[in-house]
Amino acid sequence: MTHSTPPAALGAKKRLFLRSWGCQMNVYDTGRMADVLAPLGYEPVDAPEGADMIILNTCHIREKATDKLFSELGRLRGMKEKKQAAGGEMVLAVAGCVAQAEGKEIVIRAPWVDIVLGPQSYHRLPEMVARAGRAARAVVETDFPVEEKFDHLPEASAPQGVTAFLTIQEGCDKFCSFCVVPYTRGSEYSRPAQAVLAEARRMVAQGTREISLLGQNVNAYHGEGPDGREWGLARLLYALAEIPGLDRLRYTTSHPRDIDEAQIAAHRDIPAVMPFLHLPVQSGSDRMLEAMNRGHTAEEYIRLVDRLREARPDIAFSTDIISGHPGEKDEDHAATMALIRRVGFAQFFSFKYSPRPGTPAAGAPYRVDEATKDRRLQEVQALLIEQQAAFNASKTGQTVPVLFTGAGRQPGQFSGRTPWLQPVHVAGDASLLGQIVPVRILAGQPYSLHGELLHALQQEKNAA
Ligand code: SAH
Ligand code: SF4
Ligand code: F3S
Repeated sequence: MTHSTPPAALGAKKRLFLRSWGCQMNVYDTGRMADVLAPLGYEPVDAPEGADMIILNTCHIREKATDKLFSELGRLRGMKEKKQAAGGEMVLAVAGCVAQAEGKEIVIRAPWVDIVLGPQSYHRLPEMVARAGRAARAVVETDFPVEEKFDHLPEASAPQGVTAFLTIQEGCDKFCSFCVVPYTRGSEYSRPAQAVLAEARRMVAQGTREISLLGQNVNAYHGEGPDGREWGLARLLYALAEIPGLDRLRYTTSHPRDIDEAQIAAHRDIPAVMPFLHLPVQSGSDRMLEAMNRGHTAEEYIRLVDRLREARPDIAFSTDIISGHPGEKDEDHAATMALIRRVGFAQFFSFKYSPRPGTPAAGAPYRVDEATKDRRLQEVQALLIEQQAAFNASKTGQTVPVLFTGAGRQPGQFSGRTPWLQPVHVAGDASLLGQIVPVRILAGQPYSLHGELLHALQQEKNAA
């Protein structure tokens, strides 16, 4: 049988360079953009030089994140002009949350950008690329379309590897005083459970053993179930845990206000749900939690942590803290330090408050000066890093299951993650990839663990 030759446009390979800033959801979205463009012949490459298309997937969460975009655009301008001078073309696209929030400004400040697209428009990329080829000015798409992008994304996706992200929920209706997400990602939307389960099965068939479910408020998930009823996160976790070969489940980010009994029970009852929860608290002061519109008190947060620990005694927590939100006084900062001490975190992210245009806090009185913000942030970080180091050190001498994901820091090393998301390095090779193997922890350092394969130990004993 003879095959007809594909049309040149389909056969021609084009180089696609993707860069992602910000949260894990952006990492997932970046992968999906590559999937959308694959049928057009675009193949991801590792460097921007000479690429036929460049997509910058941006983050708007803090001012620094936005600044990075404009400096990167300046650099790419030269690269694009050089390619054009040599008779080539380079399509330059800005995607993500800065595109959504500052689309018009990008077009004015960087007129060499060809495409500006918000997080809800990725499925329209092929059509936008075609339009960009004909248009004299940038093609801008920053609506929140009525149709859901997830229904229009291709089923086929490039493998993510042993650990993978899967977005199940997007957008946020919480409107915390400081945060741009409700404006950049739009209102809350949950994907149907069936679509999530199908995607998870495809990932597992491609070699994934651990899936992190993503959502700006992942535990507000309320997707339509195959039974026509609304499924919460816990129901979804039970169904995912039944997929053979899917050994580990995580989810992020949870809002303390949306944790229910079922979610707590899922940690108790489903072995695949890892004993680790990222639960941002932002502040330990009730006055600040109210100003931030978080919808819970410090005491309520602590009670939640206690209930989760009762259900799953080995559960560890990580959190987000903001230092210097408008109106924060020394006593509020002290309350944050007290909450951190009371809970004891295994990991953390901490930030200096950054005013974001259009958010309520940006216009609030009683700004905290930079020096005070810095001092408080340093105190918060010093305490949290001490707790993280203590948590890691507490694993010394224990044997823990490690899922191996890739090469280690040094030659001859391979690395993976514990159930508590700690990176572990052992002497080993690529034959470990994708395996969950018992590892004896020899040393717990502040940022990683060093261990020894248990079966290596046994082999040595047998040889002796
Ligand atoms: N949906 C998640 C957080 C998303 S943003 C949640 O509800 O917790 C990630 C973190 O960035 C937030 O938890 C917060 O700690 C931080 N952040 C958000 N806006 C910020 C701002 N304007 N300044 C400093 N940190 C901020
Ligand atoms: Fe932002 Fe608050 Fe929504 Fe988290 S819950 S995404 S911090 S508005
Ligand atoms: Fe940044 Fe948007 Fe994520 S602002 S943190 S990329 S949702």
